[in-house]
Amino acid sequence: MMTKRFIVTGGAGFIGSALVRHLVRDLEATVLVVDKLTYAGVPESLKEVGLDPAADIQSEVAALDFTAPRRLFFLKADICDVERMSAAFAAFHPDAVFHLAAESHVDRSIDGPGEFIRTNVTGTANLLQAALGYWRTLSADAQEAFRFQHISTDEVYGTLGETGFFTEKTPYSPHSPYSASKAASDHLVRAWADTYGLPTLITNCSNNYGPYHFPEKLIPLIILNCLDGKPLPVYGKGANVRDWLYVDDHVAALCLVNEKGAPGETYNVGGHNERTNLEVVQTVCRILDELRPRPDGSKYESLIAFVADRPGHDLRYAIDPTKLMTELGWKPARTFDTGIRETVQWYLDNDWWWRPIHEQKYAGQRLGTIKRN
Ligand code: NAD
Ligand code: DAU
Repeated sequence: MMTKRFIVTGGAGFIGSALVRHLVRDLEATVLVVDKLTYAGVPESLKEVGLDPAADIQSEVAALDFTAPRRLFFLKADICDVERMSAAFAAFHPDAVFHLAAESHVDRSIDGPGEFIRTNVTGTANLLQAALGYWRTLSADAQEAFRFQHISTDEVYGTLGETGFFTEKTPYSPHSPYSASKAASDHLVRAWADTYGLPTLITNCSNNYGPYHFPEKLIPLIILNCLDGKPLPVYGKGANVRDWLYVDDHVAALCLVNEKGAPGETYNVGGHNERTNLEVVQTVCRILDELRPRPDGSKYESLIAFVADRPGHDLRYAIDPTKLMTELGWKPARTFDTGIRETVQWYLDNDWWWRPIHEQKYAGQRLGTIKRN
């Protein structure tokens, strides 16, 4: 990679922490994580790259010594706080920003859309303003090299029927408060590029899975419910289709786009791993039957419970990643079958990570149900 100093917003989240681990460990970059530490922020996910959550997290920019010989810094801050964001840019002097901070769970957006609008829309606008102010202070060469990369979702495109794929030209048609807020933030990023000349990049990715995934999302929720012997909630008939990508393959795509993507462009990220939700749940059950058989000999599938559907549930997502593959040479390293096995094994081996979340933050209760007249 050409650039070496990165701000990563949302770096204590699922994908953000995978990106930070890769940047620090594999690319030897210097990283400033900016994260508010909402319920979804888990700084323990950065222990592998030397973060001590008890000692290393600061709330004030001035408390961070960027001259210290270390590669990972952590600012606990809200991206809506434009002054603190501006101070962070000025003090850290990044070559690029990976913007991942967001409210990310569709079900929670149904229960309470306000926080999604605040963080995903207003927060992105404020971060763009802070980045623009900093960018204007740079030399012409540094301005040209700078990147503001927005990490977005395929959900902005809405839903597909039985066939077809999302391309970068698919019109936006979001349905949930979450996807509408992400669509808005994508438009803001394009507006800052077109209006002010800020060199931006947008990536729209399909469903990620892998280690350190917060257990409100389908795959970790199912794994932990299996281990607890609890019902496995499948929305509707389990026929909705998602296109699953192992998180490290997403991270590789993000770094490639950052290095080689053309400013102002959008890249779709997905690895052609479409599965119905029922297939996903059955796969997890079968792997656990093998790796952690139930004491009474019964199959995990016997725990499957079909429950009321998610309101406005998109039927099918599927990404056409041709642009990313042909223009930038990206290729995912894992299929769903290899990645899901590794993921289940990771949860079996790492209860130190998920057990405190399960006991103190979120125990698997149903989210996102409303009555519609
Ligand atoms: P996550 O919920 O695991 O993590 C989000 C992080 O953002 C948390 O650490 C949280 O503390 C932080 N955050 C939230 N509000 C903040 C604020 N106001 N200021 C600063 N930090 C704040 O999310 P994720 O699954 O890792 O997703 C990361 C990004 O990737 C999101 O923008 C999401 O829309 C996008 N995305 C996710 C997926 C997926 O499958 N998970 C797929 C495509 C795109
Ligand atoms: O497509 C990318 C998106 O993928 C990201 O932008 C989001 O941030 C991310 O959360 C994810 O959204 P989904 O809504 O697809 O993910 P979730 O894990 O919540 O649900 C996956 C599918 O499983 C979805 O069709 C709903 C269903 N589901 C989910 C849960 C939590 C169930 O059937 N049962 C459940 O308990």
